[in-house]
Amino acid sequence: MESQISNVKEYEAIAKQKLPKMVYDYYASGAEDQWTLKENQHAFSTILLRPRILIDVSEVDLTTTVLGFKISMPIMIAPTAMQKMAHPQGELATARAASAAGTVMTVSTMATSSIEEVASTGPGILFFQLYVFQDRNTVIRLVKRAEKAGFKAIVLTVDRPVLGRKEDDIKNRFRLPAHYSLGNLEEPIIGKKDETGGSLQFCHILGEFDPSLNWKDVKWLQTITSLPILLKGILTTEDARIAIEYGVSGIIVSNHGARQLDYVPATIMVLEEIVKAVRGKVPVFVDGGIRRGTDVFKALALGASGIFIGRPVVFSLAAEGEDGVRKVLKMLKDELQLTMALSGCPSLKHITRHHILTDSDRA
Ligand code: FNR
Repeated sequence: MESQISNVKEYEAIAKQKLPKMVYDYYASGAEDQWTLKENQHAFSTILLRPRILIDVSEVDLTTTVLGFKISMPIMIAPTAMQKMAHPQGELATARAASAAGTVMTVSTMATSSIEEVASTGPGILFFQLYVFQDRNTVIRLVKRAEKAGFKAIVLTVDRPVLGRKEDDIKNRFRLPAHYSLGNLEEPIIGKKDETGGSLQFCHILGEFDPSLNWKDVKWLQTITSLPILLKGILTTEDARIAIEYGVSGIIVSNHGARQLDYVPATIMVLEEIVKAVRGKVPVFVDGGIRRGTDVFKALALGASGIFIGRPVVFSLAAEGEDGVRKVLKMLKDELQLTMALSGCPSLKHITRHHILTDSDRA
C-alpha cells in the first residue's frame, strides 16, 4: 500500500508507535530542558521568504558540489549512532538510500554496521564521523579503515568532550541492547550483557571518549590522514576563525541536534555570523531542526553550502526502512525545488540573502 505520508515531520509519530520507548526517546530527545531542541525547529519559523516573480523557472537545478564531489542536492545525511535499533538493515539501508538519491551519507563512529559493510553497499559518497578515544591507536585504525574503504572525508565531532545530559535516557537507563554491536570498534566483550541486558561493549566505549580533545589534536589528525577534515559542532565565530587557522576543509554549524548543551542557540540563528567570519575560505554547512524544503532554502540564503539531517533519517528508517529514507530525501528535494521555483531561483546560485527576512531585518 502506498504510504499516505506527506511530509518529513509525519515520520516521527510512526516511529514513536513502532519503536520501544527507550529507543524512541534516545532518538528523539534533547538535553535537560530541551529548550534548544524546540528552538532548533522553531527558529526556522521566524524567518520569512521574499519571493521574486516573473523569472523563468521552467528548469530548476539543485545540483551542487561538496568538497569537489558532485551531489544531486544540497541535502546530506548527518551521522546518527546505532541505526540498527531503528531497522534491522540500519546504516546499510541508509547508505543505499543516500546513494540512490545521489547524496552524501555520514557514518557514525558509533554505527551498528562496520565501515567496510557500509562501503560495500554501493558507490555512494560516504563521510566518516570520528569520535576521538583516549587510545589514539583506535583512532588511527578507524581513520585508516575509512580511507581504505573509500570514504571521502573525516567529520570530526568537536561538541562532545563529555556526554550531554539527556534525562529521558537516564530515566530509561538507555543501553544499546546486547544483541547489537558497534560495528567499528573491536572489543573482546561484544555480545556480553550488563545487569539490565544492555551491551557491555556500549557501556565500555562511552568511558573511552577523550575529554582532553583540543586544537592540537586537530593538527595531529591532519598528520595521520590526507582526507579533508570537517569540524562538526561549531557555534561561535571565535571557533570558526580558529578552525580556519588550523586549515580544516569545512565547518558544520551544529549543536548535535540539541543533545549536548541545552540553551545554546538554534543553529540557524548563528549560521550567518559564522558564514561572515569564515569569509568564503571554506564551505560552511549546518544541521539541526531541518524538516522542510523551505528550511533548506533559508539555510542556503544565510550562506550555507549545504545542510545535513539527523532525526528524519532514523524516524523514516524505523517506519519504512530504506524506502522511508528514500522518501524523506525525495520529499525534502521536491520541497526545495518547489520553494526555489516559487521564489524565482532557477539554481542554487540564485538563492541570496535578499530572498529571506529575519527578525533582525525587521528590527
Ligand atoms: C546524533 N548526532 C550525532 N552526531 C555525531 O557527530 N555522532 C553521532 O554518533 C551522533 N549520533 C546521533 C544520534 C541520534 C539519534 C541523533 C538524533 C543525533 C547528531 C547529528 O549528527 C546531527 O547533528 C543532528 O541530529 C541534527 O539535528 P536534527 O536533524 O536531528 O534535528
